[in-house]
Amino acid sequence: MPDGAVDIDDLLETGLINNWYLVCRDTDLGDTPLALKRLARDIVLWRDGKGGVHCVEDFCPHRGARLSIGQVCDGFLTCAYHGLQFDGRGTVVATPPTPASPIVGQRLARSFPAEEAHGVIWVFFGDALHDDPPPLVFPDEFSTGEWSGFVDIRVFECNYQLVRDNQLDPIHGSYLHAGTHALSWGRKDADFGFEKTADGFVIWRTNQQGVNLDRTWVFHREGSGYWAISDLPFPKNEGGGMVRLFRYPTPIDRDHSLVWNYRLQKRTGWRRDLWRFMYKNRVHDRGAEVMEQDRLALSSIPRDARKRENLLPCDIGVARIRRLYRDEMARHVEALAAAGLAAE
Ligand code: FES
Ligand SMILES: [Fe+2]
Repeated sequence: MPDGAVDIDDLLETGLINNWYLVCRDTDLGDTPLALKRLARDIVLWRDGKGGVHCVEDFCPHRGARLSIGQVCDGFLTCAYHGLQFDGRGTVVATPPTPASPIVGQRLARSFPAEEAHGVIWVFFGDALHDDPPPLVFPDEFSTGEWSGFVDIRVFECNYQLVRDNQLDPIHGSYLHAGTHALSWGRKDADFGFEKTADGFVIWRTNQQGVNLDRTWVFHREGSGYWAISDLPFPKNEGGGMVRLFRYPTPIDRDHSLVWNYRLQKRTGWRRDLWRFMYKNRVHDRGAEVMEQDRLALSSIPRDARKRENLLPCDIGVARIRRLYRDEMARHVEALAAAGLAAE
């Protein structure tokens, strides 16, 4: 690579900037500051006591202490070291040791917009050109009131791109997950149809539908990630019907990912109650077995595998999602360069 050239692949290792990411469950954040690493950045979240959730870099701009070892006072994040206070925009609201300090009123802590929705907390990781984020947009199923379900969240010891590829690789269900509760049926060979859509793309098995992971598509809105959505028919002893999976991974650092997965069913009345009962009593644990298989497989892939792999026609979703991420990162780098800024 020539001197000064930007390494898109290296930037992609820690995630697409200018997107909302799921960072934790809403119940993970109580009354005290919560330290997290997401997109290889140390962040701290807190509640202001009035219903607001806030997030700034876990670094005090006074002399560098971790803000997460402090506390929340009057809704402001308060550093443990000398008591400086910050609001959710990263503005210094008080410097108690020197009350009339000129830094009061300045935005010195790097802030990240945060929202609480659908049982979790979302954070927007923006660059200098995106101080105000685009709205966080969910697939329609989250707002119609007809769908009900749960979110599963766990940590994998691998780069998030392996998780993302895996979510757009439905044929692995017929191999890695053969013998599990909902993925034991159907053909082993896959002939995929592919179509671009306004949201991204859709892939489907032309030789089988409604048996296994036979249809997967991407839902994309600017700033709201690339949701991989799949339909999965469920066995009768788990209530039957079709479960729709919604997910895209959140990078933690180059070697760890937060893997989250909403499992929703379109159910009303007693069927909805039955689905929720079955999920808690059966589906969650059986789903955990499937996720563990994914975790083992993805954690087994060495970091340099991309340089030595050989894609097959059944990897069409993998090839396509990689392209979408790469194109978006290239656009991000270009926009920054046009403004005289470097990507970080
Ligand atoms: S380092 Fe935070 S107030 Fe001094
Ligand atoms: Fe899987």
